[in-house]
Amino acid sequence: MLQGKGYRVASVSRSGAQINDQNTLSLTYDLSTPTNVSAVFKKVRDAWGEPSMIVYNGAALHPTNYKTPFDVSLEHFEQDLAISSSATGTFVFVGNCLNEAPLADKGLLTLGTGKSAAAFLVSSAANAAAANEKDSRFYYIDQRTEQGDPMLKGVDGAAHAEFIEELIDGKANVPALATFVKDQGYKSFPRLT
Ligand SMILES: NC(=O)c1ccc[n+]([C@@H]2O[C@H](COP(=O)([O-])OP(=O)(O)OC[C@H]3O[C@@H](n4cnc5c(N)ncnc54)[C@H](OP(=O)(O)O)[C@@H]3O)[C@@H](O)[C@H]2O)c1
Repeated sequence: MLQGKGYRVASVSRSGAQINDQNTLSLTYDLSTPTNVSAVFKKVRDAWGEPSMIVYNGAALHPTNYKTPFDVSLEHFEQDLAISSSATGTFVFVGNCLNEAPLADKGLLTLGTGKSAAAFLVSSAANAAAANEKDSRFYYIDQRTEQGDPMLKGVDGAAHAEFIEELIDGKANVPALATFVKDQGYKSFPRLT
């Protein structure tokens, strides 16, 4: 999608796609190690200069028992939190509903803590950009069903790409914490409880 719009695209994963040419840079890093985030930015800046658009898609989860949600090792807690809370232009963090709904019975303590931290960071960055009259935009995006329910396992990569394209174009008036629906774009829903 981004290459179709003329962007050069750098991607990061643990497996790495091993495609490297003038317009593509594949980097192999584990984002659960926070210092790797700085290393990734350095590689991209050294190769192409300052990125104008960042999509942070990484997430991690060690499921917890909902009746004993804190029965998780410190190592696993820190690992899952680190991947969600590490990162001028447009910054998009791929979130979910856990910043407003703990979904207590689903064992998502570590994932939800990370997403909530990321949502707070994104809101704070958006407020700071507005206060400084900067043309930077920050979004925490959360795909929902048409009824506003969480997607859970039904998340759709292509729908995310289409919505991110709208955010890059910057024409729609979308808040920092942005719920969206496939083929409909930004859609506001009552807060989940
Ligand atoms: N709105 C919703 O209700 C909803 C529902 C489900 C998911 N989501 C969100 O959508 C996003 C993508 O979910 P998904 O299930 O597609 O994720 P995924 O399959 O686990 O991973 C997506 C990509 O991230 C890379 N990745 C994962 N862990 C990484 C790490 N530690 N370091 C570097 N790269 C890593 C993976 O490549 P490698 O494995 O090669 O590293 C893969 O390319 C997540 O942020 C998730 O929370 C939202």
